[in-house]
Amino acid sequence: MKFEVTRKSPVKAACDVLVVGVFEGDKRPRAQDKAFGETLDPLFAQAKREGFEGKSSQIVEFTPGEAMAAHKVLLVGLGKRDEFNLDQLRGAISNTIKRCVALSAKRVAIASFGTDAIDAAAAAEGVVSVCILATYKYLAHKTADAKPCPIQTVTLLPCDSAEAKAASKGVERGRIIAEAICFARDLVNCPANVATPAYIADQACEMAQKYGLKSRVLKPAQMKKIGLNLILAVGQGSAQEPRFIIVEYKAPDAKKTVAIVGKGLTYDAGGLCLKPGKGMDTMKGDMAGAAAVLAAIRAAAELKAPVNILCVVPATENLPGGEAVKPGDIVTAFSGKTVEINDTDAEGRLILADAVAYAEKEKVDEIIDIATLTGACEVALGKKIAGLMATDQGMVERLKSAGAAGGEKLWQLPLEKEYEDTLKSDIADMKNCAREAGAITAAQFIGKHIDKTLWAHLDIAGTSWSEASPLMAAPGGTGFGVYALVNYVLGWEER
Ligand code: BES
Ligand code: MN
Ligand code: ZN
Repeated sequence: MKFEVTRKSPVKAACDVLVVGVFEGDKRPRAQDKAFGETLDPLFAQAKREGFEGKSSQIVEFTPGEAMAAHKVLLVGLGKRDEFNLDQLRGAISNTIKRCVALSAKRVAIASFGTDAIDAAAAAEGVVSVCILATYKYLAHKTADAKPCPIQTVTLLPCDSAEAKAASKGVERGRIIAEAICFARDLVNCPANVATPAYIADQACEMAQKYGLKSRVLKPAQMKKIGLNLILAVGQGSAQEPRFIIVEYKAPDAKKTVAIVGKGLTYDAGGLCLKPGKGMDTMKGDMAGAAAVLAAIRAAAELKAPVNILCVVPATENLPGGEAVKPGDIVTAFSGKTVEINDTDAEGRLILADAVAYAEKEKVDEIIDIATLTGACEVALGKKIAGLMATDQGMVERLKSAGAAGGEKLWQLPLEKEYEDTLKSDIADMKNCAREAGAITAAQFIGKHIDKTLWAHLDIAGTSWSEASPLMAAPGGTGFGVYALVNYVLGWEER
């Protein structure tokens, strides 16, 4: 899908569908020029007779004939002007673009979409990102009945040159971030028999090369040498070798570095603490954190974020093979601490403990990890809100507002010290699983392997996968977290 911002009269915009947003109670739709206003008036009058009031989710369709270059015009309700915000805009665009797909439109032009009510750059970013995200489908393994999105171009028609300038900026940002989110979705949706740890490493390196980033991949022998033993322990029950993937973005003149660390469980069967079959069918998606950080560094590089980024992905399977780690085994972590593995299905925190400790050794200023870590987090916050825990309140606030701008909701859970004590082991420095406050103690286990670096943790177990939601066209990976991470680093201010 291509996007352009063009200053021409909507009357002359050659397209299959012309979209006109209308606020509830407005006397006339907003029009760029007199000719357009005069062509819209009779359509709007007819729409009103048919019951169109500009309420959100109302859409009426017209064939305007000679008067316009467009084959069809959609009047789209935006709801009340003073209640209009980016969430509203995203919802309306999602409905609209799906209608355009149903009409088999190749060229869509958007005459107005609430850009007079909210910031024009943010509105354009929202429009473009939702056009991409709401029409996303994973078709890589379809040999028949694959119906790709018909839309080839979306043209925004701003009212004046100031709006055009702002829109162009928003379009660029929206496209880059949304395409990165689709990259993350593709990785999550890719089945585990294809998306092995080695495959994720290859994809990461290919991406890094394309976007001018440095990358490095450690294989088991090198991992053993430096002591990434928790990752090796999780991987040893599988015929697929684990990989430790590092991608680096250097910003010109930046002094600080943020590490983003993503859980890369390419398949989580639970290990010897085997999951029931019903809980296993979506476990190819247990690498959504890895997908999110790889997508985020890609978009951050394209948008030239003002801070260095160290992206770390521990990638492995968790299977119950003959060599598998056994409940009760004790393993020395990269941090030097010993861990009694009392539950092999609590594997995400094991691989992340090594990965964050590695990041700290690389002398970063902040660490953010993101992981499909606990079913408990999904129970607590559902499928629309991710869990957020941190040792630094500044990071919490910045991450929350970074996510909110893109519709990603994060909710802070407390790292309550009393709960941390339940990770005590009689025979090692700690065990990996405490049977209380599941999301919190999982995070605390990871935190025990960081000495002093500021750290935030996102639990996306609930939000990373959808069975189909209004904004997401397709069921499967959502790409949750990419927006928050990208917006976080883009908004970096030296401190
Ligand atoms: N990958 C799972 C968490 C998960 C559950 C992600 C549902 C997405 C949807 C994680 O590795 C896991 O198995 N966690 C266990 C922890 C338990 C053994 C303490 C869980 O949540 O049941
Ligand atoms: Mn597990
Ligand atoms: Zn897992």
